Amino acid sequence: MSERLIKLLNSFDPTLPLSTAHTIPSAWYFDSELYALECEKVFGNTWLYVGRVEQVKEPGSFLTIEVAGEPILVIRDETGTLRAFHNACRHKAAQVINEPCGHASKLRCRYHGWTYDLQGRLRGTPEFNGVENFNKDEQGLPSIAVDTWGPFVFVHQGTPIQSLAAFLDPFPRMTEGSGIDTLHFAGRRDYVLECNWKVFVDNYQDGGYHVNTVHPGLAGALDYSKYRTDLHGMNTVQISPIKPSNDPTVNKVRTGTHAYYWWIFPNLMVNLYQGVMDINLTLPLGPNRCRVLFDFYFTDIESDEARRFNEQSIALAHQVQLEDIGVCDEVQRGLKSRSYDTGRFSVKREAGGYYFHQLLARTLRGD
Ligand code: FES
Ligand SMILES: [Fe+2]
Repeated sequence: MSERLIKLLNSFDPTLPLSTAHTIPSAWYFDSELYALECEKVFGNTWLYVGRVEQVKEPGSFLTIEVAGEPILVIRDETGTLRAFHNACRHKAAQVINEPCGHASKLRCRYHGWTYDLQGRLRGTPEFNGVENFNKDEQGLPSIAVDTWGPFVFVHQGTPIQSLAAFLDPFPRMTEGSGIDTLHFAGRRDYVLECNWKVFVDNYQDGGYHVNTVHPGLAGALDYSKYRTDLHGMNTVQISPIKPSNDPTVNKVRTGTHAYYWWIFPNLMVNLYQGVMDINLTLPLGPNRCRVLFDFYFTDIESDEARRFNEQSIALAHQVQLEDIGVCDEVQRGLKSRSYDTGRFSVKREAGGYYFHQLLARTLRGD
């Protein structure tokens, strides 16, 4: 690690109480060395959400995703075991599987046609006779840890120091009975933001501070005076009572007594309303860009009435996301201003934001 990077890491103090704390320095949002360290220590060495169990239910079914530049493949083999691999062919590193999800009886690289079986073992190497010191048995796809919770699939590219269940705790315990397991996936939306991935997480973690100013539609349905943030392990949860809104559309799709906004380190957000779950996944595309995937789940995805409800719910989430994208892109430009280095936190609202910065700093430093 360079002297400069060590200095940059040490310029944030995660031990201060919230009332005297500063945010991480602005350079953490665009410095390329810091970004490379995040790819290694955060995304390369923690449990990461990569997709839905439903996508990899049958033998041969697979999903792929790229997380912070790392191509990943998850597949159910013929014996029913779920496996995950780095999705880079051992020949010249093409992605062995290109489709986001699907079904295969073997894994055939489209570049030169090498084939691997569903357990990642190299089977076919056309026109490769005469190559010396080449042992097919040592040229399988490198495997990575994979596990599931409820409808979600997670992978870990390093050596996990804790099980997925321990890592997620208390999220599974505290959402028991909320019906996550019984909801049905209804669709995905994909957004590209011109900001560092942490700007999106910061925006999510400000304890409702921007809801009244940035989301006038949503604001009407949340009882802001009772909005609170709890901090637990690798999670934060923001809880707000729901109140009747003047907007009948918002009223209709945001029902129940409370909204729960769960964040799971580093990049997964789970928004829960009665009968509605939106997943937000922030995927870095470099220091200055990120992709945010929204996955929508509902109680019913069959009846006409349910479909109308679901469309309205997705439309509201989309509107809120456009409002968030506007501020996130703007914040990234502001972070690069020579005038700005660090900011302060509202003690009343922004405990979640500081908690994120603390967990991040500790992970980067290996504390
Ligand atoms: S890169 Fe896969 S076969 Fe050549
Ligand atoms: Fe927002």
